[in-house]
Amino acid sequence: MSDQNIRVAVVGCGGMARKWVAEAIAHPGIELVGLVDLDREAARAMAERYELPQTLAFDSLADAVRAAQPDAVFDVTVPAAHDKVTIEALGLGCHVLGEKPMSDTLAKARAMVAAAKAAGKTYAVTQTRRPAGFAQRSVGMIRSGAIGDVQEAHADFYIGARFGAGERSGDFRGQMDYPLILDMSIHTFDTARQLTGADPVRVYCHSWNPRRSWYKGDASAHCVFDMKLPNGDPVVFTYRGSWTNEGCQTNWNADWRIVGQRGTLHTDGGAVVEAEVVRNESDPGFFRELEKASAPPFEGETDGHRVQIRDFIDAIRTGRKPMCDCEDNIKSLAMVLAAVESAKAGRPVDVAW
Ligand SMILES: NC(=O)c1ccc[n+]([C@@H]2O[C@H](COP(=O)([O-])OP(=O)(O)OC[C@H]3O[C@@H](n4cnc5c(N)ncnc54)[C@H](O)[C@@H]3O)[C@@H](O)[C@H]2O)c1
Repeated sequence: MSDQNIRVAVVGCGGMARKWVAEAIAHPGIELVGLVDLDREAARAMAERYELPQTLAFDSLADAVRAAQPDAVFDVTVPAAHDKVTIEALGLGCHVLGEKPMSDTLAKARAMVAAAKAAGKTYAVTQTRRPAGFAQRSVGMIRSGAIGDVQEAHADFYIGARFGAGERSGDFRGQMDYPLILDMSIHTFDTARQLTGADPVRVYCHSWNPRRSWYKGDASAHCVFDMKLPNGDPVVFTYRGSWTNEGCQTNWNADWRIVGQRGTLHTDGGAVVEAEVVRNESDPGFFRELEKASAPPFEGETDGHRVQIRDFIDAIRTGRKPMCDCEDNIKSLAMVLAAVESAKAGRPVDVAW
């Protein structure tokens, strides 16, 4: 595809879509040609919010494609609708960049990956933590060999987010059976893949809904994943999370401890990315002498949606794979869905995709 603008329609005009529309408007290579929502008023309101013509508002993707001929669709609908919107858009000849999670079932996600292949179009999912400073700095340090080969990753996520209650009482997360795992932990699980470079193999998940919870479904979970590096070496990833923990909260990116052969990297998911490593591996001491290291600052763009939208536009122009291509991203969704399956079954299950 040449240097001419990529014509984009945004499908789903709810809360998250504001960020997508703002980024699309700001991107010099994008021409925003459609705003689609089942609720046409939502599409109209989005047009008004960004002072765009009302003629951009549609209540059907097919109508928008017929009228505005987009090259690409940004799918910002709710997870249960992602397969329908994405497969329809691909079938209508559009590339798709979608919100996480790819879908709410593995069968739907597999159908989406197959549809992208059959259409010969790019389909990627935004995992907005990947470009974040803590992730880029951690990956840089880990890949430099600072802590030796990676053997464990441990993430804590404790946030008291009142989705489904109070002023957010209508939010879809409030009604989900597994809101933490299905809607949020995909970010943390994806970060585990990014930081360790390992693929998931098996998971045991214990999930529950605390007495204090304002969610209908389970708002807390602990998971233990067996993972595997490309060379076959095992990595253990543990996750402790809650969406109903008020007080002493962690960063939304979680608090991480990555353990390697020589030492440990700790990141608070924000500005802190530090490591302590054994100075001399033949040191016979009970507590071996450690040296501290701090990851150098990351100078690149770190806004997740901005980076991924830029990456996607460049990928469809050049024909390369985007940062979170569907064929890779389905592994993070598989971790989520296997965790739910394990929680339901009360035993470990294999992670397949
Ligand atoms: N990356 C992040 O940090 C982040 C944060 C919040 C939400 N999200 C994701 O963004 C997506 C949207 O979340 P939200 O909070 O904006 O939800 P929302 O409920 O506010 O908005 C979704 C909109 O999609 C519309 N819609 C549903 N099905 C449709 C269909 N088939 N065709 C057209 N429109 C349809 C709804 O009418 C609604 O206006 C979800 O996948 C969510 O997980 C990501």
